[in-house]
Amino acid sequence: MSYEGRWSTVKVAVEGGIAWVTFNRPDKRNAMSPTLNKEMIDVLETLELDAEAQVLVLTGEGSAWTAGMDLKEYFREVDAGPDVLQERIRRDASRWQWQLLRMYSKPTIAMVNGWCFGGGFSPLVACDLAIAADEAVFGLSEINWGIPPGNLVSKAMADTVGHREALYYIMTGETFTGPQAAKMGLVNKSVPLAQLREETIALAAKLLNKNPVVLRNAKHGFKRSRELTWEQNEDYLYAKLDQANYRDPEGGREQGLKQFLDDKSIKPGLQAYKR
Ligand code: COA
Repeated sequence: MSYEGRWSTVKVAVEGGIAWVTFNRPDKRNAMSPTLNKEMIDVLETLELDAEAQVLVLTGEGSAWTAGMDLKEYFREVDAGPDVLQERIRRDASRWQWQLLRMYSKPTIAMVNGWCFGGGFSPLVACDLAIAADEAVFGLSEINWGIPPGNLVSKAMADTVGHREALYYIMTGETFTGPQAAKMGLVNKSVPLAQLREETIALAAKLLNKNPVVLRNAKHGFKRSRELTWEQNEDYLYAKLDQANYRDPEGGREQGLKQFLDDKSIKPGLQAYKR
């Protein structure tokens, strides 16, 4: 399926199981405008039903991943309108930036190629995994232009980064690089920009090799477990496990156990069962 030209602010191409979703406002450093937010809802909902799109990679065209919310179109222009408009505009942003993306049905990787500021931290953390370029520059710049971090940016920091570092960057607005982001756990790893795509494809290949139903239940289980008590977690995680067995058309559990216990053809500690 070709998505060429379908959205004005986002480019989408599906190749070899990977859906490359690219913010496409390089002249505005891929700032997230109300149009981009609306289009991203459609992009995510569309790709969810595309069987060829098995792993989603979110990246940016040009020098930026995203420079955060669009200060002109998302803030200034909306401030001038009725407050219900602001509610709607905020709802669209939340809808894709964390509600849809965080619990997306397919694995997601943020491939951070450059500038990543402010509001960009919500989709960054909502992605399951993240790889940054060493050259990427991150910053919680809100303090520099007069607001506390908006949307779920602080929550995203609290879920990934330690208390002292999170507050340091929230309160100073200082920037940090890809390797620093990896050290503080905001991204999984940082590599030179020239290797970023190749590393991302290698990571996606590992995910493509796994059972998609089990992957979905495993990530949903982990993400919800942060919010639930031990008792609730036990119920929820077993429900997810049973749901995976019930929904899995390829019978992964039986395959995995058979290949290890009967055929002795795999060691699950070292490799996935053969699909
Ligand atoms: N919102 C709206 N427009 C933005 C933007 C944003 N967040 N970030 C960049 N742009 C626009 C600029 O206004 C400029 O538009 P123009 O060409 O019409 O004047 C264009 O993108 C290029 O920006 P410029 O600042 O010249 O690019 P740069 O490469 O020198 O610097 C940044 C890149 C990201 C460091 C800088 O643009 C910046 O600080 N942006 C704001 C980041 C921010 O505070 N984000 C938090 C929002 S929640």
